[in-house]
Amino acid sequence: MKNDILKVLVTESELNQKVNEIGAAISRDYEGKNLLLVSILKGSVTFMADLMRAISIPLKIDFMAVSSYGSGVKTSGVVKIIKDLDIDLSGYDVLIVEDILDSGMTLKYITELLKTRGTKSIKIATLLDKPSRRKADVKADYYGFDIPDEFVVGYGLDYDEKYRNLSYIGVLKPEVYAK
Ligand code: IMP
Ligand code: MG
Repeated sequence: MKNDILKVLVTESELNQKVNEIGAAISRDYEGKNLLLVSILKGSVTFMADLMRAISIPLKIDFMAVSSYGSGVKTSGVVKIIKDLDIDLSGYDVLIVEDILDSGMTLKYITELLKTRGTKSIKIATLLDKPSRRKADVKADYYGFDIPDEFVVGYGLDYDEKYRNLSYIGVLKPEVYAK
């Protein structure tokens, strides 16, 4: 698995430190609120698991699975809901937890959808942000790292469902796509 990685972009200890910082900020900002973390499966599970433990105030969690039509390294912009939330969102301060904000099409779709469900507020926490690739008008309220326009894997992020279990964020060797 490691042989497929061109370079490490964010190390495990950098991830740790950043997630703790974001958790501390959320704990301050959401004090006294009705916080619900919504993790977008599957890429954000690792971030979600670490982030929720870095938050010191009461919270609830829920999960949603979506897929953008088409596979490979590009998003089509059309989002399909594979698994919807279990919790009724009315009255919650929802914080969407995402692995990466790329074109923004996925998060745009999800925020617009969840807004129609009686939420008190909706914000976005993304671990990674590729601002140069943005097509939809979305911005993250909390983000970990700005990264260049390179396809990354690890810490939950996949290529063809692989590499999610790497404990760092790495850039894949281009020849891996060519296989
Ligand atoms: P967006 O709708 O273009 O913002 O796409 C967001 C989704 O595309 C993320 O949740 C990821 O699943 C996937 N994605 C975008 N860039 C990468 C990447 O560099 N590595 C792995 N997955 C990515
Ligand atoms: Mg994803």
